[in-house]
Amino acid sequence: MLGLLLLSERYQASGIGRSAYMLVERLVRTWPEVRRVRIGVVETNARVLPYWQRMGFRATGETRPYAVGAVASRVIVLERSLQSAS
Ligand SMILES: CC(C)(COP(=O)(O)OP(=O)(O)OC[C@H]1O[C@@H](n2cnc3c(N)ncnc32)[C@H](O)[C@@H]1OP(=O)(O)O)[C@@H](O)C(=O)NCCC(=O)NCCS
Repeated sequence: MLGLLLLSERYQASGIGRSAYMLVERLVRTWPEVRRVRIGVVETNARVLPYWQRMGFRATGETRPYAVGAVASRVIVLERSLQSAS
């Protein structure tokens, strides 16, 4: 389960996010017991969903309630299988 991938705003949208995720996945693939990577995206941040889709993640259909301070939303759970993808 990835907790958060966060780039400084001035470095966003220039390819670093793709490189960063690929490095994370390369490390994760050295752990043979891990078969998939999951991420939760808060629905209020849905603009980031295309990024995860480009990284090969697909919606699982699972959601979780999300309530922090004044924000009441849902977490959308996505995952990427490591078994056939490379
Ligand atoms: C999400 C984040 C890590 C992505 O990193 P990035 O450097 O901006 O992304 P990249 O420039 O490497 O883009 C990677 C690919 O995703 C696509 N993409 C990224 N954001 C997109 C968007 N909002 N809509 C459509 N496509 C998008 C890019 O076009 C690119 O596709 P390509 O490699 O096939 O050309 C970064 O924007 C960020 O830190 N955002 C704020 C924090 C956040 O919301 N994190 C996620 C929490 S779940």
